[in-house]
Amino acid sequence: MNDLVILAGAAGSAGAGVSGPTADLIFGDWYPALRADVLRVGKMTKALLLGIPMVLGRKNDGTLFAMRDLCPHRGIPLSAGWFDGETVTCKYHGWQFEPCGGQCKEIPSLTTHDSLDATKIYAVAYPCVERDGYAWVYVPEPGTGRSMGELPPVPEVPKFSAKYRSAHLVADLPCNVDHGIIGLMDPAHGPFVHQSWWWRSKASIHEKEKHFEPIPEGFRMSAHAPSGNSAPYKLLGVYGEPIVTTIDFVLPNRRSETIRCGTKWFSSLTTVTPVTASTCRIDVYAAWNIFYNVPFVTSIATFFGARFVAQDQQTMVEQAEGLRSNPALMLIDDADKPAKWYFALKQARLKGRKEHPLDGPVTLRWRS
Ligand code: FES
Ligand SMILES: [Fe+2]
Repeated sequence: MNDLVILAGAAGSAGAGVSGPTADLIFGDWYPALRADVLRVGKMTKALLLGIPMVLGRKNDGTLFAMRDLCPHRGIPLSAGWFDGETVTCKYHGWQFEPCGGQCKEIPSLTTHDSLDATKIYAVAYPCVERDGYAWVYVPEPGTGRSMGELPPVPEVPKFSAKYRSAHLVADLPCNVDHGIIGLMDPAHGPFVHQSWWWRSKASIHEKEKHFEPIPEGFRMSAHAPSGNSAPYKLLGVYGEPIVTTIDFVLPNRRSETIRCGTKWFSSLTTVTPVTASTCRIDVYAAWNIFYNVPFVTSIATFFGARFVAQDQQTMVEQAEGLRSNPALMLIDDADKPAKWYFALKQARLKGRKEHPLDGPVTLRWRS
């Protein structure tokens, strides 16, 4: 398969500042806003998600909230005001809001002569749920109002035993979400960006054949024995049982990987979240019970994981420099096929169509 797709330089890059071109964003889904452990009762924390300024916090009963960081009265950020564990009070005229639903509870300036019902006024509040240590926020289509209908399930890393360890990593990427995502699913960069003694070397490049199948709004690299030239996978062999790996990509931005070896397992979710239309952030959350009793395993895993993510991050910082001049780009051969599928899935979603770029199982071949 030698088809070549030229990605035209995206429009709208002018004025994007130091970052590269912008990307269309997928609204109407869950995104991780930040790590939930920074949200403490009585405190408000600001976040930027899909270009929307938000303020997040934790109520006395532990529930999280996410509001648009704008008072509906005169637009001052709500984060400039106060939060007492129950109510957000605007700094300017003291309007009080229940932060999970956004309902106004009190307008201090009203007198008994006023007929205005404060509780008919709402600040914008988003569904916000804690999973795997993240505050996940549902970001509706603009203009949806408070009737969001039935929400999709909140993403969560599958765990296959009661006892497990976990770790998370984060890196800001100075490129739009599309570049972040196709970088994530790109199999050909491994031997170059991630060469090191403990992962793999350039000399270890060999031809690979992987099987893919369509899944709703995404695709799956079908269960397979993992790449034999990766040291961490070799280590897993110590358990002496067959190792089975599945890697899924699902819109809007999720790559999940599951490795199972008898009763031992490793599971991860990587998301690339638009912070603005021209910048994004990669979050990796992993849980596992392999090497459960090895001391320091979490810090060792985090150390190597952080090195790995930092290599991707550094590469994308360099790429962003080139993307600022808005070049036309290429998607070639089988190694770039998953990126093409991503763009096709995204277009179908944005246009509200049910099309899928895969009509059945597909085998891709590349060297990496
Ligand atoms: S601007 Fe918030 S209460 Fe007036
Ligand atoms: Fe990478």
